[in-house]
Amino acid sequence: AAVVRRQMWKSGRWAKAMAIVNELEDKCGTPITRLRHVAEAMTVEMHAGLASEGGSKLKMLVSYVDNLPTGDEEGLFYALDLGGTNFRVLRVHLGGQGKGVGKQEFQEVSIPPHLMTGTSDALFDYIAETLGKFVATEEEGYPFPGRDRELGFTFSFPVNQTSIASGTLIRWTKGFSIEDAIGEDVVGELTKALRRNGLDMQVTALVNDTVGTLASGRYYNPDVICAVILGTGTNAAYVERANAIPKWHGPPPSSGEMVINMEWGNFWSSHLPLTEYDLALDTESLNPGEQIFEKIISGMYLGEILRRVLLRMAEDAAFFGDTVPPKLKIPFILRTPDMSAMHHDESRDLEVVGKKLQAILEISNTSLEARKVIIKLCDIVATRGARLSSAGILGILKKLERDNITASGGQKSVIALDGGLFEHYMKFSASMESTLKELLGEEIANSIVIERSNDGSGIGAALLAASHSTYLQAPEE
Ligand code: GLC
Repeated sequence: AAVVRRQMWKSGRWAKAMAIVNELEDKCGTPITRLRHVAEAMTVEMHAGLASEGGSKLKMLVSYVDNLPTGDEEGLFYALDLGGTNFRVLRVHLGGQGKGVGKQEFQEVSIPPHLMTGTSDALFDYIAETLGKFVATEEEGYPFPGRDRELGFTFSFPVNQTSIASGTLIRWTKGFSIEDAIGEDVVGELTKALRRNGLDMQVTALVNDTVGTLASGRYYNPDVICAVILGTGTNAAYVERANAIPKWHGPPPSSGEMVINMEWGNFWSSHLPLTEYDLALDTESLNPGEQIFEKIISGMYLGEILRRVLLRMAEDAAFFGDTVPPKLKIPFILRTPDMSAMHHDESRDLEVVGKKLQAILEISNTSLEARKVIIKLCDIVATRGARLSSAGILGILKKLERDNITASGGQKSVIALDGGLFEHYMKFSASMESTLKELLGEEIANSIVIERSNDGSGIGAALLAASHSTYLQAPEE
């Protein structure tokens, strides 16, 4: 009788746990009709953001990039890529006249967490120091005596651009929070740090990572019209007709085009499938009420959403036994790469899931059934994010009238995609790509291509630094 009682009690817990799973699955649901509504809302917000400053949660920032690389870019240029948990410094030799990119060297450094929430000077001094050491490794020496080295600065946060090489920080995203930098010209901040560190370098292009990715994408393929980042954060940039930007009062660009940094991470629509976990995550975040689209899609948050669901299952359904595993209460302890590793576990006993639970959360002896449930949770959370990102892309294609064969005239549209989430979380990228096909339908699906861009944002910044070089007007004899 005791055994039976124990079984019943256990199955009661199990039923409770399953109810939580089912509710999550229901709330995260992204049927095609919902995705279409999200895409439409994206298109509407794009129009609103282009119409007037503050017209939408979508900032639709003017990048001042009105000419994309042509292949003529030539010389030795540096780039600095700041925007996630790491930053990179690059040295790129551009061949000119369609000869492409020659030697590329780079160094990647992780940003000490305390610098992400400290002061502007501390962050930029650290970057300048690293850059200084990197410059010192130049082997052949700088080919242009008497000139300053030129630098493309990829700064992947929302910036009110005031020219191609200046702009003020609107706010931080993705776990950065450095109060005294907000409202400051980030190029000015970097330049001061470069001087403090004795470096004579000039920033000639300030770009978002999406804009850099678009630039390098276009350099290699003329059909690239849009770039999307799915990494720590998420965002998109695309080429807009200048006369479709009512809020732009600057001189009309000779190309007739302007690259727009959408900052789609801040997109919001009542059609987004949001759960209690998302709302709590948002409330407790560094930027409550902001970046809601980003918070249900990107790499910084997916693992954290999963942790919150598991915590609820531990608390309300004793999913991990009589006590709640203490580690499960620590925000951001479960990272998206760990979630991805569990999600891709194909071993019979789901060993990877078991090992991750043990190593990260100190949870041991989980049953195979429980591990299967965890994989299911990974699937629910990742699939929602992947499908919503496809809806976002559809929104852009709609805005550009490239989502149907009649309007696009069969023209090819290539979307450059980059970011660790897309690159490493295969179930995420597979779901994203198949959903996009599903949304577009067979007729047009073949004209729309997703192209992986490998760290294009840095190269893109170097290319734009070259095309905006201050020495361009005065070539040497
Ligand atoms: C965040 C930033 C945005 C960036 C994106 C991807 O959304 O606000 O500027 O492009 O992350 O790195």
